[in-house]
Amino acid sequence: MSGPLLEIKNLHVSVEEKAILKGISLTIEKGQVHALMGPNGSGKSTLSHVLMGHPKYQVTKGQILYKGEDITGLKTDARARAGIFLAFQYPTAIPGVSVANFLRTAMKARFGEGYQPKEFRKQLTATMATLEIPEDFATRAVNDGFSGGEKKRHEILQMSLLKPELAVLDETDSGLDIDALRTVAEGINRMRGPALGVLLITHYQRILNYIQPDVVHVFINGRIIESGGKELALELERKGYAPYEEKTQGERQEVPHEAGH
Ligand SMILES: Nc1ncnc2c1ncn2[C@@H]1O[C@H](COP(=O)(O)OP(=O)(O)OP(=O)(O)O)[C@@H](O)[C@H]1O
Ligand SMILES: [Mg+2]
Repeated sequence: MSGPLLEIKNLHVSVEEKAILKGISLTIEKGQVHALMGPNGSGKSTLSHVLMGHPKYQVTKGQILYKGEDITGLKTDARARAGIFLAFQYPTAIPGVSVANFLRTAMKARFGEGYQPKEFRKQLTATMATLEIPEDFATRAVNDGFSGGEKKRHEILQMSLLKPELAVLDETDSGLDIDALRTVAEGINRMRGPALGVLLITHYQRILNYIQPDVVHVFINGRIIESGGKELALELERKGYAPYEEKTQGERQEVPHEAGH
């Protein structure tokens, strides 16, 4: 057996000279689901962007190892081919590109020679049926006029087809009604298994009623302040972030209050 799926070592990240992540260390083993919970502006989405290799975010210190290899300098497309998947908090619309065509292109990029065009339609129809997504969805333009719930279902559809080894899901529960939340959670649970590691970024404990995390991390002001089992999420729900924020006081420079990216 090889080592962990993802190993983040003392990661420091800046955006436009401003330090956002201040020494993150995190190890995800194959098969594990880790939940990352933290207040607005603490740097959760920044971490997800850095994991995907977004050029705007500079790693100033530390390392990201994926399946034992240093990917800190690797381009986004190479990460996607290697099986890393990111569901954005705010996915962008791609007018003129249908869901089916978008997914077809993504499948080709991910599987290369292994992509079987003849199988694609069948696979798409079957996966959409399992996720209770209506058939006409495939002909709509990607994220164009999608409701919050539709965007999130589209992400789970992408993920089901692309079969990532590491999935980073940013706020997948935001804007979902209770039935959609359940469908999305079931979609993720169905994919759970020894071949998939998940980093689930969330504000609320709610989705964790459906997806049981192996590890919960409290993330404040660019750092992981505490890690524990799923009971930590319940404790956060009860107490809020204030007791944890106190722990970091005296060392913080600026506390952004407006909603982040
Ligand atoms: N591209 C960017 N340009 C400038 N500042 C940025 C950029 N991305 C993130 N930041 C800043 O980094 C900080 C952390 O933002 P981030 O989006 O990572 O927080 P978050 O924890 O995801 O918040 P939320 O819970 O609101 O989604 C914020 O102060 C934000 O303004
Ligand atoms: Mg965010």
